[in-house]
Amino acid sequence: MAGRIQWEPSRTLHEFRLLPGLTTDECTPDRVDLSTVLASRGQEGSTIVLSLPVVAAAMQAVSGDRMGIELGRLGGAAFVFCSQTVTSQAEMVSRIARGLSGHSSEVVPGPCAAAINTHDHEERVPALVEAGVRVLAIDSSDGHSVFQQRALAYVRERFPDLPVIAGNVITADGFDFLVSAGAWGVKVGMGSGSICITQEQKGTGRGLATAILDVVAARDRYMAATGRYVPVIADGGIGSAREIAVALAFGADAVMMGRYFAGLEESPSELVVQAGRKMKRYWGEGSARAREWREARYKQSVFEEGVEGLVPFAGRLEGRMLELCAMLRATFSTCGAATLEQLRRTAVAEVVSALSIREGQVHGIEQSPGPGGCA
Ligand code: IMP
Repeated sequence: MAGRIQWEPSRTLHEFRLLPGLTTDECTPDRVDLSTVLASRGQEGSTIVLSLPVVAAAMQAVSGDRMGIELGRLGGAAFVFCSQTVTSQAEMVSRIARGLSGHSSEVVPGPCAAAINTHDHEERVPALVEAGVRVLAIDSSDGHSVFQQRALAYVRERFPDLPVIAGNVITADGFDFLVSAGAWGVKVGMGSGSICITQEQKGTGRGLATAILDVVAARDRYMAATGRYVPVIADGGIGSAREIAVALAFGADAVMMGRYFAGLEESPSELVVQAGRKMKRYWGEGSARAREWREARYKQSVFEEGVEGLVPFAGRLEGRMLELCAMLRATFSTCGAATLEQLRRTAVAEVVSALSIREGQVHGIEQSPGPGGCA
């Protein structure tokens, strides 16, 4: 018999749609401000702000130096993966820090960001700080652990002004634990990633929508009790403006995506052509392929929590981000919101049935190719 059974099933972001609100002259798409807070100590001047609510996952197939520079230039951030040696990660971070500081455009660039683990943080964090990192994320599928508490205690002691996002958690208890341990942001999601087999292998996890709602409720309680705001980042299984909009409406401050970015030219993974289609390789950090790098240093887990596969090549980052932001602005506008804060206040979400999801897709016609398309 379990200690406690929750009979209400957990839900995914795909199961919700947002209802329209009143669109006014103040919230037309061109007036929508997508800026957000990624990490915060809760005092003025100690916040990391993004002009887009989107970050790239700390994965070998996603966030190398090119992604860090290009996404940073657009106002987001890519967390350089820590499944590599300290030296090679610090070199990537230093190239990103240089690339972003030399950037002269009027779009405020996003921060130079990197992931750490709870095994070698005492060696890795000082090297990343030296290389110019501005924000860290502790990379783990289960952040509700004393290992994260110890890593946070180390950073708070040695680098008190360095923002650290901890996670991942999917419960209110997990949020409270990490925030009291010193996290400036909390990442939410377990078992929902596209390459993830955690739920199948271990039987642990939760639908991302329910996880966000539970953690955001804990964040709001914490804010009411202490006056301190802690950003929440939704992570795993998000790959379109539709899911991002629901996550933001539910109280997330930003989303982290892996598969979405892996397919872009700027990801570090290999381009392959299969049956005439351009594809890019994508693999989980818990897959056998990603784990190879540390065989010599850490005890290998005897089972995998991630798989390896291919995703369609999706072209250049800049064009895709322009498109994604245009869709988000349109959604905010339809919901009657000009800012993230307004979206949360005004948005009404509704659970959709499987049939209504089908109705929302093209149905009942043979679709013809668009102009310039081929049959
Ligand atoms: P995606 O955007 O659906 O592809 O999910 C990316 C997220 O999956 C990452 O940000 C991690 O939180 C998570 N993740 C990365 N590698 C693995 C893995 O091997 N197993 C389980 N989850 C993973």
